Amino acid sequence: MAVRQGWRLLTGFDVFLAAELTRRPFDQALGHAADLATGQILHGLGGVDGTVAEAMRYAVTGGKGLRAFLVVESARLHGILDAQAAPGAGAIEALHAYSLVHDDLPSMDDDDLRRGQPTVHVKWDEVTAILAGDALQALAFELIADAGCSDAARVALVAGLARAAGVRGMVGGQAMDIAAETASQPLSLEQISVLQAGKTGALIEWAATAGPVMAGDDAGPLQRYARDLGLAFQIADDILDIEGDAETVGKAVGKDAGAGKATFVSLLGLEPAKERARALVQSACDALAPYGDDAETLREAARFVIARKS
Ligand code: IPE
Ligand code: IPE
Ligand code: MG
Ligand code: MG
Ligand code: MG
Repeated sequence: MAVRQGWRLLTGFDVFLAAELTRRPFDQALGHAADLATGQILHGLGGVDGTVAEAMRYAVTGGKGLRAFLVVESARLHGILDAQAAPGAGAIEALHAYSLVHDDLPSMDDDDLRRGQPTVHVKWDEVTAILAGDALQALAFELIADAGCSDAARVALVAGLARAAGVRGMVGGQAMDIAAETASQPLSLEQISVLQAGKTGALIEWAATAGPVMAGDDAGPLQRYARDLGLAFQIADDILDIEGDAETVGKAVGKDAGAGKATFVSLLGLEPAKERARALVQSACDALAPYGDDAETLREAARFVIARKS
């Protein structure tokens, strides 16, 4: 946002802008972004009846909203208001919810519990889960088409989201994850890093760079932040699978080892994996140096990612 120079009378609009662009503590910012995202998705589904729409509303409820937060917070750092960023927050949470609905299917991870509730295929059936996931992905693109930025930036957001979701991103990582379950050799650290960068990292990176992309600014520092954060996030998820309890985590735990999942924990062991996650968080925080103290909420988010219990 333009730095205000000298003394002048603030208009009501300036005061409004200044308030919205002022840094909030992480927990407040997270809740706020999650609400913005859910609001966008529910509005996008407005007036649609039927089982698939009902399952979609169900699937977008109860998440932490971390990806929505990354959109709104990266936007704030680039002077972009909530109303302009909200479609991006809704889009990424819809896309993420689709990835979870399909991840839980019997042919993938075969999970019965998600966010403390029965998974979509358990509450309804597999057909409903497949279609609700498909439609959540489509809804993500419908929402992002409304992002409040220039046409060129909107095209960049849409193309970036397609790439992050697809075979070079989340789907590609999921394919490697499933293939690793039956591979004859354990994956190398390098291969696991590629797997995680696709499966989890790609959507997180899209979210954390949405702000500079919308503003037409350099996305380099936030891209570096997101790459470290995404990997730390997935290591923490893999640690929760070992150390967490299902009630707190909200999903089944203790499944990855039995399923032959390739994770940093399976390869390095628990303590070295924790050490790696801590180092990644430090490096993610360091990448935010160009933003100074204004990026403290993103630093809090990075610390939260490895301290979380769910
Ligand atoms: C879970 O993501 C799936 C992974 C990519 C590891 P989150 O832990 O962000 O899930 P919700 O949205 O809060 O339920
Ligand atoms: C899933 O990773 C990542 C995506 C949904 C793309 P996991 O399979 O580890 O996620 P959880 O543990 O089921 O949430
Ligand atoms: Mg999985
Ligand atoms: Mg899973
Ligand atoms: Mg997991």
